[in-house]
Amino acid sequence: MKKKAAFFTLGCKVNFCESESLQVLFENAGYRITNFEDQADIYVINTCTVTGYSDHKSRKAIRRARRLSPDAIVVATGCYAQGAPDQVRLMDQADLIIGNQEREKLPEIVESLQRGTVLDLVRAHQNDKGFEMLPPAGRRGRTRGFLKIQEGCNQRCSYCLVPKVRGPLRSLPPEEALRRAQILVESGCREVVLTGVHLGLYGSDLQNLSLADLLKELGKIPDLLRLRLSSLEPSDITAELVEEIIGTKTICPHLHIPLQSGDGEILRLMNRPYEPVEYLYLAKWLKKEIPGLSLSTDIIVGFPGETEEHHRRSMKLVRDIGFSRMHVFKYSSRPGTGAAELSGHLPNEVKESRSREMIKLGEKLASAYRKKFIGSIQPVLVEKVVPFSYGEGFTPHYLRVRINSEIKGLHWRGKVINARLDRDDGSCIGATPIKKRRPGS
Ligand code: 5AD
Repeated sequence: MKKKAAFFTLGCKVNFCESESLQVLFENAGYRITNFEDQADIYVINTCTVTGYSDHKSRKAIRRARRLSPDAIVVATGCYAQGAPDQVRLMDQADLIIGNQEREKLPEIVESLQRGTVLDLVRAHQNDKGFEMLPPAGRRGRTRGFLKIQEGCNQRCSYCLVPKVRGPLRSLPPEEALRRAQILVESGCREVVLTGVHLGLYGSDLQNLSLADLLKELGKIPDLLRLRLSSLEPSDITAELVEEIIGTKTICPHLHIPLQSGDGEILRLMNRPYEPVEYLYLAKWLKKEIPGLSLSTDIIVGFPGETEEHHRRSMKLVRDIGFSRMHVFKYSSRPGTGAAELSGHLPNEVKESRSREMIKLGEKLASAYRKKFIGSIQPVLVEKVVPFSYGEGFTPHYLRVRINSEIKGLHWRGKVINARLDRDDGSCIGATPIKKRRPGS
């Protein structure tokens, strides 16, 4: 009988992408992938360390794996494992601690382990040139697949641990990126989400290459109906890139551009290289150039020294820009970062109440954004079908849509179905299929 491997993933799209790649690796080594709650021989926890709460959730998942099966091999990998291997070791629950490097041979390493001894393979990122070559992330039958084309970050945002745990900026060579995109398409993906830690600087370590250049090539792959960009820094948005986004019809009108704060003083303390007004103009320009653009963002509330007035300014800018979706983070002090040394750390109650306010504003703006599409006809790439009930998927603007269907819907998976958006049910939009189908749109 095949051995079973179970995965639990925390954090960002890069982590989810890497977990899928690791699953492919285990499948290729003869394992069957099971649910995390099931009995398995191997549990892999792909951890996150972006906030103190991410650390906590990572530890909780490691403990849960051990409780699920006392005899299984438990592997802690990812950013928390990379940043705090000693803490993982002290928990005395994992058999293998491995960070964000050298996981190409993970199944073999796991085979060589013995329960009861702990192997710690974490080593610091030095001037890493290598790109960890895990197999492409497409597991069979996925309609949307992640493609990691870039790794690491050279920015030094004062609050952030990511450069430490992900190492310096590296890009996947373009030929390999194209080859991997092709493989995803062949495995059934119709939408590819390009991911990276600092995606917008893709190619800056390779000669004469930019993200725009790669997009041009990716846009030519037949049957790749949609390309989506996961996250871009404000300073990486060049006229050339915007031209490419507009000119390549498969690129989705959906950009995630972290703002972090709407106050100039706080942005400077965060070591973010732009002024609030520059972001505002950028957003206005993008919305003018890309019709209906879905612009989403990350915001940190309660940064050290943030006064009520700073917070008000952040709220105002967020409202003026009108984001389609927001991820709100309560500032979390990370050991070893510059911001941890600043004065004026705020009590949790203040962070909590500012976070609630910001989340509420985000929900209001998201709902206003969705409403604009009610009554319009949109192409929906169907990812999931519940027979005789509905098909569910996303529009290019990343609106989640549920299309009513009876018999017709049975064959919708992986297809683009045009639907009239009828009503906003909160997180999902209810829709009716319309007759004409326009492939590729
Ligand atoms: N505290 C709170 N949020 C943080 N982020 C990164 N570091 C911290 C921190 N120390 C958030 C940022 C980033 C997102 C991935 O995580 O908003 O864009």
